[in-house]
Amino acid sequence: MKKPRSVGRRRSAPGTARSGGALGGRPRKRLTTAPADGAGPRRVVVAITGASGFTYGQRAVAALAAAGVEVHLLVSEGARQVALREAGLRVPRDAAGMARAFGSPPGLVAHDLLDLGASIASGGFRALGMAVVPCSGGTLGRLAAGSSEDLVGRAAEVTLKEKRPLVIVLRETPLSLIHLENMTRLARAGATILPAAPGFYHRPTRVEHLVDFIVARLLAALGLETSMLPEWTG
Ligand SMILES: Cc1cc2nc3c(=O)[nH]c(=O)nc-3n(C[C@H](O)[C@H](O)[C@H](O)COP(=O)(O)O)c2cc1C
Repeated sequence: MKKPRSVGRRRSAPGTARSGGALGGRPRKRLTTAPADGAGPRRVVVAITGASGFTYGQRAVAALAAAGVEVHLLVSEGARQVALREAGLRVPRDAAGMARAFGSPPGLVAHDLLDLGASIASGGFRALGMAVVPCSGGTLGRLAAGSSEDLVGRAAEVTLKEKRPLVIVLRETPLSLIHLENMTRLARAGATILPAAPGFYHRPTRVEHLVDFIVARLLAALGLETSMLPEWTG
């Protein structure tokens, strides 16, 4: 015997909602609610800009990739020059070449600076946050002004408006009032100002120890666990 068709209201599956029908006879759409447990991909935007300390950016990319984080990478024109001077490394402008210059670790997505339609230009793209590492005085000023003429500015603007962590690893010394005011403005907007000023109490004996001190703090500011540095217990 055939089963009678149900004529009552059908119950939606958990995590789904049903809509439509009333508006112009459009077909009903099934809306899926994203899991609230953060089960989606863990993504971080990393912008390397033209301050000294390209190695901070390189190490941040490597540490995030090693932690299984999807890294969305931007390299400014200034950073390309610094990379050449400091590391003898040519970083191509195109995304594929840029990824290769970083060793193409799993989960690395390189972006063209002028691709303003990229995923990371939208708040709808769910990222854990963004790091500008190292951050030049020039980029600091543009971010403080909310200028989003390239993808570094736009991604940072989006990160702030979505109230996600934006970590600024400024490398400059001494600081002018303009730097200080720009840092204050960004801190008021919710950014974390994390100057490239490593501590020495862990008794570093190599440059990498100093770099890792900053990168470990950076990961912590993004809410990521790290074993790069032992916790200081006094
Ligand atoms: C080798 C080298 C080192 C530099 N170091 C710094 C620095 O430590 N801090 C800084 O603010 N700018 C520094 N600059 C200058 C910036 O690269 C320059 O202002 C650039 O326009 C910044 O552009 P960007 O912010 O788009 O990367 C350096 C430039 C070079 C070539």
